[in-house]
Amino acid sequence: MVLSLGAGLASCVITPEEMEHSPIDPKRAAAFAAKDSNGNEVALYTLRNKNGMIVELTNYGATIVSINVPDKKGKVENVTLGYEDHAGLAAGGSYFGCVVGRYGNRIAKGTFKIDGAEYHAPLNNGVNTLHGGIKSIDKQVWKARLMNDAVSFSITVPDGENGYPGNLKLKVVYSLREDNSLAIDYTATTDKATVINVTNHAYFNLSGDPTQKILDHELMIHADRFTPVDSTLIPTGELRAVKGTPFDFTQAKAIGKDIDATYEQLQFGGGYDHNFVLNERDPQAPAVVVTEKNSGRKMEVFTTEPGVQFYTGNFLNGNEKGRGVAYQHRTGFCLETQHFPDSPNQPSFPTTLLKPGETFKSQTIYRFGIDGEK
Ligand code: GLA
Repeated sequence: MVLSLGAGLASCVITPEEMEHSPIDPKRAAAFAAKDSNGNEVALYTLRNKNGMIVELTNYGATIVSINVPDKKGKVENVTLGYEDHAGLAAGGSYFGCVVGRYGNRIAKGTFKIDGAEYHAPLNNGVNTLHGGIKSIDKQVWKARLMNDAVSFSITVPDGENGYPGNLKLKVVYSLREDNSLAIDYTATTDKATVINVTNHAYFNLSGDPTQKILDHELMIHADRFTPVDSTLIPTGELRAVKGTPFDFTQAKAIGKDIDATYEQLQFGGGYDHNFVLNERDPQAPAVVVTEKNSGRKMEVFTTEPGVQFYTGNFLNGNEKGRGVAYQHRTGFCLETQHFPDSPNQPSFPTTLLKPGETFKSQTIYRFGIDGEK
């Protein structure tokens, strides 16, 4: 059933199925309702499960607007950074909760080659291209389809947009499950060889209080290596062992423990802003586990991707506002499951090439729980 929950919801007769997707507050639906210059409608979509978990999504940028999960006392709070309304989202520059692509993270000098032909994406991050380029898929209206426990967003990224070859058909499905996991499934096809690296850019703060820094969160990343970068945050090609460095999260430790250590990589990133090379593991085992002591909340990340960009909100400086606060330095962290940055220029990295006839598939699950509980 195709259904859009916009500002007009309050005046409709609500069926049980619609009820499941009803907004937390009709005012929220109104705040996120909009129309782009082509008349495409933007709306807020809500998923709920039986444990009180609520996920708000919008088809603008296929964005997670909020993830509301219980703490150890059962108090349901938003554990993501987000904007107040659609206007905030459209103007925002920190990629809160959106899907970035068609090439997420950086491509050196915006230049890459496929079959000998050179392509150029616009430089929007110093000398490099970040998250696809200018007005990329995170700033566009996607088509939405609402299902029982899921919302599907799709978009066709035209051949040549931001310099990338191929009409890329991309679909992202968000499903909320009864075990408090939010699954994100990506599929894509192209009609010309292209590069693809898509991820969700949610910022988390498991305390539920976005004025608190995330430095006390305990983090485990199942990665023995990371990809060091140059001063413009482009990987050098080295896969460096984390052992004996501030990048060792193989045993859970506080995010803030070593974040200000004198270590060139941390200076380049202004903190952590690096891709970790995930170890081979049982598909049932999480790639990442984060816990926050006061709330008792735990988040586990499962992914089919080979890497994860761990970013500690180093660029947040109070300019971005939402939820009644100005988001300060390191009040959110991202775990962007992905292929490695600049892979199109790094032959030794897992390939990001997608050819006609192939189907790109990727899945990431964020599962929430209480630390110490099964
Ligand atoms: C990614 C990048 C960071 C930063 C954020 C958005 O995580 O690696 O350097 O650009 O996106 O602010």
